[in-house]
Amino acid sequence: MKHITFSLVAATITTGLAALIAPAPQHASGDPAPAFLTEIPHGYRDFKWISSAHEAGNLNSIGAVLANDVAFKAYRDGKLPFPDGTIIAALHYRYVPSDENNKVFGQAQSFVPGAPTNIQFMVKDSVKYAATGGWGFGHFANGKPGNEAFMQSCFPCHQKAQSTDFVFTHYTP
Ligand code: HEC
Repeated sequence: MKHITFSLVAATITTGLAALIAPAPQHASGDPAPAFLTEIPHGYRDFKWISSAHEAGNLNSIGAVLANDVAFKAYRDGKLPFPDGTIIAALHYRYVPSDENNKVFGQAQSFVPGAPTNIQFMVKDSVKYAATGGWGFGHFANGKPGNEAFMQSCFPCHQKAQSTDFVFTHYTP
């Protein structure tokens, strides 16, 4: 029994070491293969507002699209493609009637952001994300990133905005 336990431990250690020593899959550049964002970009809530969008149907959401300083400048200057360092955030919420506001208006007319649903990002790094138009996509619900299969859906649809560097949202003055 003791012998079996020892063998198991030895096997585990050997496997663990092999995993440690084996190199991670690499790109030609030497960086580990990047696919999508696994961490929420720092300070996104302080980014500047670009525009908003309401999706009806199943989504029934209201979204705010925000940009960091690099992206904001490119938007304002009308410059495409967006430079490396660009971060665009899309903050999504449930689209809900506001009873509080409707009471004031005396009729049902006010809709506001409700509970947050997800936050999405597009980060420009033309080398790291060369395979997806230079954009790293990110999706976070309750702080957790979308899984790999789900993240494969982003770029094929954003390719429809090819003439605007794969970005749909226009700058709202
Ligand atoms: C079926 C098409 C479609 C898919 C799939 C899709 N998007 Fe989008 N996305 C859009 C459209 C259209 C907009 C603009 C309207 C809006 O904001 O709702 C947009 C807006 C965005 C924006 C704001 C910048 C912009 O391009 O306007 C971000 C960031 C974003 N999407 C990230 C993602 C991520 C991350 C995924 C994958 C998890 C994803 N999108 C999947 C169609 C899509």
